[in-house]
Amino acid sequence: MATLVTGGAGYIGSHTVVALHGAGRDVVILDDFSNASRRAVDAIRSLARSDLPVEEGDAGDSQVLDAVFGRHRIDSVVHFAARKSVAESVADPLGYYRSNLGSVISLAAAAIDRGVPRLVFSSSATVYGSASAPPVTEESPTVPESPYGETKLMGERILADAAAASEMSVISLRYFNPVGAHPSGLIGEDPSGEPANLVPRIMQVAAGRRERLDVYGADYSTVDGTAVRDYVHVMDLAEGHVAALDADIAPAHSRTYNLGTGSGTTVLQILAAASEVLGTPIPHEMAERRPGDIEASWADCTRALDELGWQARRDLAQMLTDHWNFVRQQSSC
Ligand code: UD1
Repeated sequence: MATLVTGGAGYIGSHTVVALHGAGRDVVILDDFSNASRRAVDAIRSLARSDLPVEEGDAGDSQVLDAVFGRHRIDSVVHFAARKSVAESVADPLGYYRSNLGSVISLAAAAIDRGVPRLVFSSSATVYGSASAPPVTEESPTVPESPYGETKLMGERILADAAAASEMSVISLRYFNPVGAHPSGLIGEDPSGEPANLVPRIMQVAAGRRERLDVYGADYSTVDGTAVRDYVHVMDLAEGHVAALDADIAPAHSRTYNLGTGSGTTVLQILAAASEVLGTPIPHEMAERRPGDIEASWADCTRALDELGWQARRDLAQMLTDHWNFVRQQSSC
């Protein structure tokens, strides 16, 4: 029996596939490669020392799902495949609702039809918006501030309703800010376009591919005026999925968990840590706030520790070291 991982060639997906394989599970990847590279599959196979099966197709396409479930014996599903740009979702809301929710519905229906007992859904801390002061718990109000965020919250709700009417159990994992890469440097964040996230941009500056980093906002009410986030190592997130598949959740039930470190770091603190770890100054300039950004966000991860036995183990220096290692290896090949 195998775990089907949709979006398994993507950033968090690829690390999760390696972690699942390391935990002794058979894995089948389903990816349409719209925002993931085939190189990632070669790297996963070499890390797993196994010819993991890879199916190419859209996780929202019922015919694709029929074929995949027909070819493999699937006993659990981890659903990553989704579009994930906030800005793009504002420009193309219908495309985001159609794609991100269509895949949730088709996949849940296919899994329930085949009696799959467990589905893990890739959600995001973006579901909280700016409604609550950090740290946020899973009971904090959810007020997404973009169509992308709405698709994550609606995805959770659709799956909870689907679980309640079936024998399947669903776990939604709300990631905070994923950073880092596998320590081998073989897999990591490999965005197809220009990155918008902080750490990939810092790496571009360090690699000489961007002149400087614009720090978006220096007038927030935080220790140094810059915005605070909960950066979490992608390998820790990957291990959270292994824990979620093993968790003791009754059939027809669903549960959400925050995955973060439980502590916040400012943009300037990240810059200082990056210049220390990378051994090079990171030129930066203070700039206007980025529209839509929130001041501060970090997680309360008590529930994940109590119920999944999971907590983040890797620190910021490890995240930045591993991320940089991946970036350097990418640029040398
Ligand atoms: C963004 C997304 C969020 C997504 C998350 C993880 C937005 C509004 N939110 O969150 O939905 O789940 O990424 O991928 O896009 N920063 C700079 N300069 C830069 C880039 C970023 O100062 O060039 C700052 C930002 O203002 C922010 C922090 O760095 O305070 C982190 O930014 P980013 O990595 O984009 O993550 P989020 O904004 O938390």
